[in-house]
Amino acid sequence: LRLGILASGGGTNLQAIIDRIQDGTLHAEIALILSNKPTAGALQRGRLAGIPTLCIDQQQYKNRLDFDRAMVAALNEARVELVVLAGFMRLISNEFLEAFPDRIMNIHPALLPAFSGLNAQQQALDHGTRITGCTVHFVDAGVDTGPIVVQAAVPVLQNDTLETLSARILRQEHRIYPEAIRLFAEGRLRLEGRRVLIDPPLE
Ligand code: GRF
Repeated sequence: LRLGILASGGGTNLQAIIDRIQDGTLHAEIALILSNKPTAGALQRGRLAGIPTLCIDQQQYKNRLDFDRAMVAALNEARVELVVLAGFMRLISNEFLEAFPDRIMNIHPALLPAFSGLNAQQQALDHGTRITGCTVHFVDAGVDTGPIVVQAAVPVLQNDTLETLSARILRQEHRIYPEAIRLFAEGRLRLEGRRVLIDPPLE
């Protein structure tokens, strides 16, 4: 399975995927790492791992659609079969979605549909929830609204800060994202309307 990873930040989710591929747990290949930020740590991690990387600087595109078209062209050139958003901080246009129908995944640091949008970890703290977590979902036209693939829950502790809670969630992100991609690679995900069925089910 040829993966295209889109990242804007440090790339720890990318690193988890690289590590699972290298230890043989995840039978996939990262065909391309794309970023919209020239300074993204994800690009550095890709270079260190010898993976093709490309920065498409959004400043060079007069509008979002041209920027998205450039990304789609690069992903198709690399024969990407599954697009993985890993800390990619831009919305995906409908044209991009149509280029990869049901083949774009994202990870969100909350138990969707709770706390969609930005600062999900802070939202959980502000609401005094006892449990929060992270969600891998297929991307659809909404914001963090696509069919859910895998989730993981973590406790919110009394003395948690944004940093301690975010770190606890991130550890689970690094576990469930490679797992979700593995299920896709094994052909075990089936979309039924808005629900994702895993066949055979996870034990
Ligand atoms: C993670 O918190 C993830 O949930 C969100 O952006 C962050 C990505 O972190 N989508 P990293 O760049 O993978 O370290």
